Amino acid sequence: MHILLTGGTGFLGESLIPMLQHESRIEKIYLVVRPQSANRAQFLYRQHSKVSVIRGDITLPQIFLHESDRKILSEVTTLVHLAAYYDLSGNYSDCFINNVVGTQNILFLARQCPRLDALHYASSIAIVGEHDGLFHENELNKGQSFQDAYAKSKFEAEELIHSFKLGIKTRLYRLGILVGNRQTGAFKEKNGPYYFLEFLSKLSLFSQTIQKIPFLALPFAKKSLFPLAPVDWVAEVLASGIVMQDGTGALKTYHVIPRRSPSMIEFLNDALETFGLKRPLVAIPKNALNNFAMKKVGLPPEFSTYVYTKTEWQRAQFEQDFPQFQALSYDDFKKVFFAGALEKWGRK
Ligand SMILES: NC(=O)c1ccc[n+]([C@@H]2O[C@H](COP(=O)([O-])OP(=O)(O)OC[C@H]3O[C@@H](n4cnc5c(N)ncnc54)[C@H](OP(=O)(O)O)[C@@H]3O)[C@@H](O)[C@H]2O)c1
Repeated sequence: MHILLTGGTGFLGESLIPMLQHESRIEKIYLVVRPQSANRAQFLYRQHSKVSVIRGDITLPQIFLHESDRKILSEVTTLVHLAAYYDLSGNYSDCFINNVVGTQNILFLARQCPRLDALHYASSIAIVGEHDGLFHENELNKGQSFQDAYAKSKFEAEELIHSFKLGIKTRLYRLGILVGNRQTGAFKEKNGPYYFLEFLSKLSLFSQTIQKIPFLALPFAKKSLFPLAPVDWVAEVLASGIVMQDGTGALKTYHVIPRRSPSMIEFLNDALETFGLKRPLVAIPKNALNNFAMKKVGLPPEFSTYVYTKTEWQRAQFEQDFPQFQALSYDDFKKVFFAGALEKWGRK
């Protein structure tokens, strides 16, 4: 198996590449890396004998910076597309060029790989937008609206992959919100819940005062589900999907989320307890002042989709094809998750 992979220097890529290195069925891993990140990639994977760094940028129509690198296309059997512009506050133009045009360029590249037999793409549970109710893995366009350009662009990228009809095994992994490694708690700061945990760490300086107030009012809906997914677990799922020999050329989509996700109120209570701020919580409903409230608690306003989500993600296809990953629950990783945040921001 000769893999061409984008996003190898990202949060997920850094967990995934070492796993792919250890897979006996994989012979080569070509990483498409932007020139400014090439040295970092060389350093990160200096002990990974299967890895070669190719300079490129997915926003360029031909992707590769050096024409001579195109010769590897004749040996590539598997494309793994993780690269994306991930910023909930990002403007639509940046999201579109990287996430939609970038994916389109990857699809055109796929057509230039004569031995290609599989495409694996990292999507997001965010593609459900403001959907209310159960969302199945085989569903995509349900007329949902979007509060942030990132989610919209990931939705559009999925639509593009469907419309291309590559005719090879195609796997779309709609990932939950990536959080720290289950062993180390190591995480990427500008990501989902960590914005909020950083805010709590600042608030904890005033914990004695906060203990005197009767309740804390925060913007959230009590029953919203918060589908956090440890990055190393997600990487294991992807590594397993990449080497899986299931033979079907169809397009399949997976909701890669744990068996049990916390409700927003459960998560917030755990977070407040971690930072010594436990108080009765009052949920501020979604309203016109919402953006103001979100900013006050350190969250990008676009995060309101998540704290007020009414979606429930069904994961039948995931359970069927990845039975070995069924068991993980929020309860299994929350201790290390919060310990990681406390180590980073807790009072020494
Ligand atoms: N993080 C989450 O919570 C989350 C949740 C659901 C889905 N996902 C999806 O999972 C995937 C990986 O996410 P992540 O958290 O690992 O993201 P990340 O840490 O932001 O990494 C993004 C990666 O994409 C690369 N990249 C960005 N623009 C590029 C371009 N124009 N050309 C080539 N490479 C480019 C980056 O390279 P540089 O090193 O040069 O910046 C980096 O390697 C993404 O598709 C994301 O949408 C993430």
